[in-house]
Amino acid sequence: AEGDAEAGAKTFNKCKSCHMIATPDGEAIVKGGKTGPNLYGIAGRAAGAEEGFKYGDSLVAAGEKGLVWDEESFVAYVQDPKAFLKDYLGETSAKSKMTFKLKKGGEDVFAYLQSVSAE
Ligand code: HEM
Repeated sequence: AEGDAEAGAKTFNKCKSCHMIATPDGEAIVKGGKTGPNLYGIAGRAAGAEEGFKYGDSLVAAGEKGLVWDEESFVAYVQDPKAFLKDYLGETSAKSKMTFKLKKGGEDVFAYLQSVSAE
């Protein structure tokens, strides 16, 4: 189902303690924390690819294996990052530096992030 960008903007309040949204030239769309990577342009981006962010090994491995964020992978990841990485990598030892879980509304947040990243 298509996400609702307006609902996603509200839900993003749960993410901004750890994630900012900032354009490549440094304009802050949402001022957020630095515990997690900048989520500007996340749609279509390879996992673990934000320049300068220190990702966990499992997310980097997933990106190297070909994980690109689309609605389906994004929604599954934010519901349970560690379980997603275990499944994607086929490794029960996979770890996630993101422990937060968003049970519902991931597709709305994805639509929101797409809408603010579009040129
Ligand atoms: C990574 C989304 C909430 C901390 C990520 C990634 C996405 C994401 C898509 C992967 C980014 C990439 O591959 O470049 C979200 C969304 C959230 C949320 C949509 C809210 C619904 C949080 C919160 C925290 C957090 C609240 C901190 C308490 C992190 C960290 C990573 C990460 C540390 C890196 C994970 C790793 O390297 O294993 N997040 N996040 N996130 N997030 Fe979040």
